[in-house]
Amino acid sequence: SGYVTLDRGYKNTGATQSAITFLDGEEGILRYRGYSIEDLASKASFLEVSYLLIYGELPTQAQFDAFSTGIRRHTLVNEDMRHIFNGFPVNAHPMCVLGSLVNAMSAFYPDSQEGKNTDLHITRLMAKLPTIATWSYKRTQGHPTNYPKNELDYIPNFLNMMFALPVEDYKVDPVVAEALNVLLILHADHEQNCSTSTVRLVGSSQANIYSSIAAGVNALWGPLHGGANQEVIEMLEEIKEGGGDVAKYIDMAKNAKTTGFRLFGFGHRVYKNFDPRAKIIKKAADDVLSKLGVNDPVLEIAKGLEEAALNDPYFVQRKLYPNVDFYSGIIYRALGIPTNMFTVMFAIGRLPGWIAQWKEMREQKEPIGRPRQIYTGSTLREFKSIGER
Ligand code: CMC
Repeated sequence: SGYVTLDRGYKNTGATQSAITFLDGEEGILRYRGYSIEDLASKASFLEVSYLLIYGELPTQAQFDAFSTGIRRHTLVNEDMRHIFNGFPVNAHPMCVLGSLVNAMSAFYPDSQEGKNTDLHITRLMAKLPTIATWSYKRTQGHPTNYPKNELDYIPNFLNMMFALPVEDYKVDPVVAEALNVLLILHADHEQNCSTSTVRLVGSSQANIYSSIAAGVNALWGPLHGGANQEVIEMLEEIKEGGGDVAKYIDMAKNAKTTGFRLFGFGHRVYKNFDPRAKIIKKAADDVLSKLGVNDPVLEIAKGLEEAALNDPYFVQRKLYPNVDFYSGIIYRALGIPTNMFTVMFAIGRLPGWIAQWKEMREQKEPIGRPRQIYTGSTLREFKSIGER
């Protein structure tokens, strides 16, 4: 262990070479396969971006048709999965249900463990994740689950499963579908973040793709990662209910060491000037809320909090800026998505990134991931039998 360099949290350790996502934290640049996030978010569809991430190129029309037709054909989830689903408490957190059911898919498609038919498993994951995600929400409402409708595109299909009720007509609002398209694209990949590194690490033992992705879902759930989007809205709600005292929360965050409180949606391991996704999302929040005619006082609180933080030396010195999660929840809310589903939405968006990274790791024949440590425990001790202790 004399040769081991300690790097807690892997702040400076490059664990892989990757051709998927380029990120420059100083300049605030994010590109998928060389295409800027600004271009993709304003011009592409989520499925096109998914194809780009997974297969390396933007699809031709024929490639796109084959990809999306495959996904449409696999949207149904095996009815036996319902037994597992029905065993959860009604108020189970949707992220717990999602992680468990994605892992359970490996039991239904056991050839995945032999590393066979990978493209088919990729199609299944892309197709079934929205179905499973909406199941977990319907249950909490006591509503019947909806089957997919394969004449609908990916995002309208998700919205229909999420919001349609058998007793009334439901029509997908194009403003809602477009807003979701942007959000999913912005979340689609982010190089070696915690959940993605988890997917690669689990996959490096040659665990199957479903179990590897399930591990990513579980890593994403944590409040310092994807779980932050739920925490942000809960924090903003709390500020609103307490009369809008933004300064109090700034003070609490400045004393993070003693209060243990962090300003959720602020700070990023890599972005030190701004998060380009947050820029796009902040503008989208304004656009979407005005198009939908939603007046959410929480948006004003968020803006006030951002302004106060950006003018405070504590945040300036530490280069803490709003991250992707700061405004995304406000949009999800305006679209009617409940708070405990926010991180699930992040997972649906991140899925193609996890898949692309898993696939790249396998294709590059990477060795099993196995960090070292610096041992700090006792030196050799003499064993004493239990009566002598
Ligand atoms: N509020 C208050 N202080 C903060 C915050 C915050 N949100 N973030 C960082 N700091 C302070 C931290 O206390 C430390 O101060 P000091 O130098 O005095 O010890 C300094 O800033 C550096 O922070 P760090 O924890 O060493 O930085 P990190 O790179 O390990 O953490 C982070 C990055 C994103 C986990 C962290 O900024 C954080 O906890 N933010 C809040 C949670 C959040 O919004 N997460 C979503 C991240 S973006 C999307 C995603 O990944 O899912």
